Amino acid sequence: MDTPERFAHLPDYAFPRLRALLDAHAPGGPVVHMSIGEPTHPTAPFVPEVLAAEVAGFGRYPANDGTPALLAAISGGGGGATLVAEVGPERLMALNGTREGLFNALLALCPETKRGRRPVVLIPNPFYQVYAVAALAAGAEPVYLPATRATGYLPDFGALSPDLLDRTAIAFVCSPANPQGAVASRGYLSDLLDLAERHDFRVFSDECYSEVWRDAPPPGLLEAGRAHDPERQVVFNSLSKRSNVPGLRSGFVAAGPGAIGPIRRLRAYAGAPLPDPLQAVAARLWQDEAHVEASRALYAEKYAIAARILGNVPGCRVPEAGFFLWLPVPDGEAAALKLWRETGVRVLPGAYLAREVDGFNPGAGYVRVAMVAGIEAFEQGLGALRRCLYG
Ligand SMILES: Cc1ncc(COP(=O)(O)O)c(C=O)c1O
Repeated sequence: MDTPERFAHLPDYAFPRLRALLDAHAPGGPVVHMSIGEPTHPTAPFVPEVLAAEVAGFGRYPANDGTPALLAAISGGGGGATLVAEVGPERLMALNGTREGLFNALLALCPETKRGRRPVVLIPNPFYQVYAVAALAAGAEPVYLPATRATGYLPDFGALSPDLLDRTAIAFVCSPANPQGAVASRGYLSDLLDLAERHDFRVFSDECYSEVWRDAPPPGLLEAGRAHDPERQVVFNSLSKRSNVPGLRSGFVAAGPGAIGPIRRLRAYAGAPLPDPLQAVAARLWQDEAHVEASRALYAEKYAIAARILGNVPGCRVPEAGFFLWLPVPDGEAAALKLWRETGVRVLPGAYLAREVDGFNPGAGYVRVAMVAGIEAFEQGLGALRRCLYG
């Protein structure tokens, strides 16, 4: 039987590709996992207690939009720079992690045509992979924009042709960026919203790494967009990185009054709401900053270790925010394989996070290193990486 043509050219997901590249070979030393962005710092100590107290809630179908307690907790200020406090619960929806939310919100908001033509979805390249599959599922044309050293590791939206911008229905921005760790300034975000107003499109701002930063909290789209049309602004955030609970699957979307309705409606039919006991845990986590600050302090130690170990390697930057190092190498696949075989350190080839456009894959000359291991393992792994890849 046939399968849909629109997904026929999707590459395999990054992690099966990594297993295919590495797993036929024995690790050359103690295994250090630096490939997947799965945080391992402690979450808040109250999580088991809250979960135990709420366990009867598994006997009920969950609240689709989010329990009032969860939406109030989110809009109560958690999530720092995202400024959802000014948005209020009526413009929020709880998500089962942002990955599904990014996908479903795009399905809910991307029109079939724009000004009589197939709509375009603008995607930074490299990028978090669900953006592309959501665009394809909606029948839109994904257009990949280089987010390279030459563009400050963020897409240069201002350089796009007016015709392309007129066809655009949705533009993704990811700040702090996965994988490059770049942070969009308020001016950058506000210029993007100017373009969105001029050319009539929405901005989907993926802010999952907003709480993992080095010197200053990154600006969020809602903050940069105070003077702009709220209907253009669709913001996603998550507890996965903020609170070190990627398995809890809890995030949210904040959108304008006209956009949140269609997102809620689609998810009422086809979404997978977060079980009520997990919503109760999530509500507590959004209200607590102590565990977030403790985790940020551990990342600060890791930024310092990275600066010490890699500081004098040309092209190696310690990111402004987020927990990835994006390290230049001649060939990312060859480097990941060599590193695994010679040291047991596992990193991701940058090409797996990007698409080739006009013969150029902007991730091909990089490996992505997740700073998620414990401090000691991280230091040992990064030292081994330095010796193996940079001498
Ligand atoms: C940029 C980015 N967005 C979204 C997500 C999804 O996070 P979650 O579904 O756990 O909220 C991730 C996870 O790695 C990510 O890196």
